[in-house]
Amino acid sequence: MTAVIAVANNKGGVAKTTTCLSLGGSLAEQGRSVLLVDLDPQAHLTLSLGVKPETLRHTVAEVLLGQSSLVAVSRETAVDGLDLAPANRELVVLDKVLYGRQGYEHRLKRDLDEMRYQLYDIVLMDCPPAFGTLTLNALTAADLLIIPIQCEYYAVRSLQQMFDMVSLVRRKTNPRLSYRLLVTMLDVRNKIHRLLLRQIRDRFPEVLFQTIIQVDTRLRESPAFALPVTRYAPRTRAARQYRALAQELISYLSPVIEFTTPLAEGETLFIKEPVVSVSAPQPPYPRHGGVEMGVRQL
Ligand SMILES: Nc1ncnc2c1ncn2[C@@H]1O[C@H](COP(=O)(O)OP(=O)(O)OP(=O)(O)O)[C@@H](O)[C@H]1O
Ligand SMILES: [Mg+2]
Repeated sequence: MTAVIAVANNKGGVAKTTTCLSLGGSLAEQGRSVLLVDLDPQAHLTLSLGVKPETLRHTVAEVLLGQSSLVAVSRETAVDGLDLAPANRELVVLDKVLYGRQGYEHRLKRDLDEMRYQLYDIVLMDCPPAFGTLTLNALTAADLLIIPIQCEYYAVRSLQQMFDMVSLVRRKTNPRLSYRLLVTMLDVRNKIHRLLLRQIRDRFPEVLFQTIIQVDTRLRESPAFALPVTRYAPRTRAARQYRALAQELISYLSPVIEFTTPLAEGETLFIKEPVVSVSAPQPPYPRHGGVEMGVRQL
């Protein structure tokens, strides 16, 4: 059985691509077979694995157009167990072209459904920092959405837009979409980071990954060497934190269903925690002594 995971946040620069690369590398290191899917026209994930986007003849664009499959466009990387379905600038045009096509939201899901029980334990999709057809395709196909966030005022405020997006997707295309927040680039010396981390922990205890990713220069360096941090700098704090995230993620996936075991008919993959209800009572805010986050959890 394949777990399909989207990494998305419409806020730019919050470590979506870094998380795909290094979480993917950690999962592969722990024996999972992983497919990384680059859905961002910037093609940073593709670049970060040493593939030149401008030289590509086959990309995820073909999958979204229904002309090919993820398996057909994917390629091996220098990391054992880690494959890549690459992207290039073509995705910019595709984002506009897809709008006009009926049922475009389900293109990736259809392809993943066909390959679900083969080849990969985990599919990780890197989304662009925008709510377009590409992100909608990823969220429609996903079992789980990982939302990386920084402990910065603007980043936390923009979370509301992500929650609105999750609500919309649950209503329109994917009622079983679950989500988790991942704190990234935490600088423990920074007062506002510490304050916002406390508030995020208070406000979203059930959906927050316990693993926190701290600021670490090695994560800036590793894409230039076309490797996840677990291979580039295996003994660093960043590598340890992404390994811990991989373990935590695996523990969320249903313990009764082994990876690579096909689902029985009518059975659904899933995450141990219940999907947080859209109608759950809202926690009161702002909190005393904190920063007004202006965010309502689903
Ligand atoms: N934990 C970290 N410590 C230090 N730098 C980091 C960390 N995580 C990510 N970065 C750096 O922050 C920058 C933004 O990260 P990244 O490209 O992964 O974000 P993104 O959300 O994918 O951005 P975009 O929205 O443009 O796709 C990059 O230069 C990356 O190397
Ligand atoms: Mg990115």
